[in-house]
Parts: sequence; C-alpha cells; structure tokens
Amino acid sequence: MNWKSVLSLVSLAALGAAPILAELYSANPQGVGMGHMHVLTRDIEAQKKFFLDAFGGKVVKNGPIEMIEYPGVYVLFTKADNPPGSKGSVVNHFGFTVKDMPGSIEKWKSLNLKIEPTANPNEVFVIGPEEMRLEVYGIPEQAEPIVMNHIHWDSPDIPGMQAWYDKMFSATAGQRDCVACLPRKVPLEEGRLPRTSLSFSKGAPTLVGTKGRALDHIGFEVKNLEAFIKTLEAKGVKMDSQVQKVQGADLKIAFLTDPWGTYIELTEGLAPKK
Ligand SMILES: [Fe+2]
Repeated sequence: MNWKSVLSLVSLAALGAAPILAELYSANPQGVGMGHMHVLTRDIEAQKKFFLDAFGGKVVKNGPIEMIEYPGVYVLFTKADNPPGSKGSVVNHFGFTVKDMPGSIEKWKSLNLKIEPTANPNEVFVIGPEEMRLEVYGIPEQAEPIVMNHIHWDSPDIPGMQAWYDKMFSATAGQRDCVACLPRKVPLEEGRLPRTSLSFSKGAPTLVGTKGRALDHIGFEVKNLEAFIKTLEAKGVKMDSQVQKVQGADLKIAFLTDPWGTYIELTEGLAPKK
C-alpha cells in the first residue's frame, strides 16, 4: 500500500467518524429530534451513579443544568420526595442498545444490579433506583458502545397515539419488530424519530400520566421553538406553558401534555455549546 492510499484511508476514516459526532443529536426534516429523558429521584447522586456505572455516558453542563450525555439522548435529574416508578404510568420505560451485550451483562452482574430477563437472551431490563427500568439489547454492529433506542408507552390507544405523534412531531408512523419477543416475530407499532423509536404497546386504560413519576417527562429538541409552538397550536394543542428562557444557559423550554398524560418538554438549545 502506498502513502497515497494510506492518506485516502485516513481521510475516509475521518469522514466516517464525522457522522457519529453529528448524529449525537439529529432532527427530522421538520426540525424535531429526541432531546432528553427527565428523571425525578429522591437521591440524585444515587441515580447518576446508577446510570454512569451501568451505561457509561458523559456528565456535561449547559449553564446551570447538569446532565448525562449518551449518543441520541440526554438524561436529566431533579430531586423529588418520593416519586413512584414509571411502571403504572403511560410511559413504562426507555431503552438503549449496546455494542457488547455479553460484556454489559457481566458488568451489571458484578455491580449487583437487578436484571429482568426477557424471552430474548440478547435483551434484558436493568432496574435502578426508583424502579427505573432500562431496556437494553445488543447490536454488535453498532459503532458506539451505547446508543439511545426507544421510549416505550403502555398505550391505552395505540392508533390514536401513533397518529398524534406523527401529526404533532412528524414521528413517522410504522412498525418495528418487538425485540423482547424474539425469536417470535411480533410487530410493534411505532413513531420514528432519528435514532429513537416512540414505541407503543397495549396498556390498561387505568394508567396514569407521567408527571410526578420517576420518568416525569420526555423531551424533544426542536429547531425554532416559538415557530414550532405556533404549528402545534394551529393543530389544536393547548400548551401547558409558553416559552421560558433558562437563566444562565442559551436554552429555551416549553411544556405540553399529550392527550394520554405524557408530560412533554420542548427544548431549543439543550446541548452544551462546544
Ligand atoms: Fe421497550
């Protein structure tokens, strides 16, 4: 191999690396991307330790806001008295994929974490403080050690929810395979955002909203928050709050609730400035 081909390989490798960084945060053509999952906890340090020990990630700050960064999602923490777990609310859990599943299972066992198996040996639930449920499965071909994968609703109205998230956030309605059900092939309804599936399984009509639970709200990052809210309002959404600026950060936020009780934060500028 001559130097010219070595150099072109190096530049190809550089090009190959660029999209991974760019995809840390990616939006659909309507400017909506996965933003964050917001956790309420009686002990922030214990929750942070659980996430960092079990799943790695990087602690980053945007002004006064501290969060853990994973490819495709940020996880934020707020102290609360005694938040009930997410199970029993309409959002049951969220999930990652990892590159090294056998190694990850060994690590979780050595940390004495509670692990719930599924029908698929390549997938488990890892349980943390406040009954935090993280569904994880292995994709050896993925580039990064861990990547955001999905938010999973126990939905009282799957077609309604799928249509609503498609209409409001352009999360493209479709289907994916239920990973926990493999080797049986069972389709699962979803809305698709870049790098995140909004996944809808059947839940009881008695499920409550997410506000005040360990998974208090989900967050989408949008490109132009004021303009985006106008499009939501034109489609009939009543916002819970209008745009607020977060002091000390170049960040704007606003809240709404979906018709089934999922508390949703919209952000513009959540990612720390590089
Ligand atoms: Fe799931």
